[in-house]
Amino acid sequence: MIIAIDGPAASGKGTIARRLAAHYRLPHLDTGLLYRAVGAAALEKAVDFEDVAAMAGLAEGLDLAALDPESLRAGPVGEAASRAAAIPQVRAKLLTLQQNFAHQPGGAVLDGRDIGTVIAPDAAVKIFVTATPEARAARRFRELAARGEKVTPESVLEDIRKRDQRDSSRTSAPLVVAADAEIIDNTALDVAASVAAALAIVERRR
Ligand code: DC
Repeated sequence: MIIAIDGPAASGKGTIARRLAAHYRLPHLDTGLLYRAVGAAALEKAVDFEDVAAMAGLAEGLDLAALDPESLRAGPVGEAASRAAAIPQVRAKLLTLQQNFAHQPGGAVLDGRDIGTVIAPDAAVKIFVTATPEARAARRFRELAARGEKVTPESVLEDIRKRDQRDSSRTSAPLVVAADAEIIDNTALDVAASVAAALAIVERRR
């Protein structure tokens, strides 16, 4: 069983994906980490984001086992990831790895932007998790502030809007709702209610 979870930044799709993976004992891949790793490497090595070949080269040598989720989830990396993810050649380099993960025997849970549309259009379960930009920004602000990052609610909302715009308007695998996806709008839901809604969808679909 492949479970595809897509949605915009800070929608809570990662939490839902982790809970579903634990519940069904399936391996889980947070595909945002791949783009974050490429973005972080570009920042670190001062690679020009316009240099498509160099950016694709960073994606090519990516080692899943070596990714450090903690540092990759830090504030500035999100913006870099979104820029890296808009480059078709970067996406192409990360395609096989994600498809192989999705189609391993026994199934998998993947979360991202294009899992139900591009990586695993054949997924038995597709969930699109969303919430208003304000609700997502408020969550992300609390998360970043708790980690001691110097951010304001306004700057976080601005960042979310920018990433929504870029992730949705890019030509290569933009963030769109798959025709056969079920939508969870968790603007007014807490984590437990969001997870319960997702579990109900999986039970109905599998
Ligand atoms: O979900 P996230 O915030 O960790 O994702 C970081 C960026 O990576 C996001 O702005 C868009 C991009 N991304 C993507 O284009 N496709 C995916 N499957 C996952 C993430």
